[in-house]
Amino acid sequence: MTSTDLLNQHLRVIYACEKGATGVYWGHRVVAAVFFRDLIAPLSEMHAHEMEHFARFGEILKARGARRVSFPLLWCAGGIAYGVLVALFGRQSVWTSTVTIEAIVERELMAAATVFKEADPQAYEHIHTILLDELAHKNGAELSLVGKPVAFVVGFAKVSASVAKRLAQVL
Ligand SMILES: [Fe+2]
Ligand SMILES: [Fe+2]
Repeated sequence: MTSTDLLNQHLRVIYACEKGATGVYWGHRVVAAVFFRDLIAPLSEMHAHEMEHFARFGEILKARGARRVSFPLLWCAGGIAYGVLVALFGRQSVWTSTVTIEAIVERELMAAATVFKEADPQAYEHIHTILLDELAHKNGAELSLVGKPVAFVVGFAKVSASVAKRLAQVL
């Protein structure tokens, strides 16, 4: 694999995971509409951001002439299933998941920003802007989390993110 291929793969993974994130917040919002309606507004805002991130990474891949993942709806569907399931355990689970997942996204985007600053300054600008949104998501969730995170949700979020990433590397 050439270094260009590796860079494109890196972007493709983030692209797919952004689609997954749209599903996660959509799924959380479905449950919130029934059980905790005060979360609809922040979840809708994060969902809108993730839609924008997904579109932006699609544009970056297109500008680089790189292929995207074959079935982005797979990540969306997985995200929805995950989002609904986690939210059924309550608002504390929603915020635990958000903190955990956005921390993973933050690390991925920091790594991408470091690499793309030199390799593709235009892509770097997009990544940097998106990173600020993700940090806001994480910080907002940390403020909303009352008491300790839900331990099993932390583990479930980490495993799910890892599966989503691995699938994006091969599909
Ligand atoms: Fe995002
Ligand atoms: Fe996010």
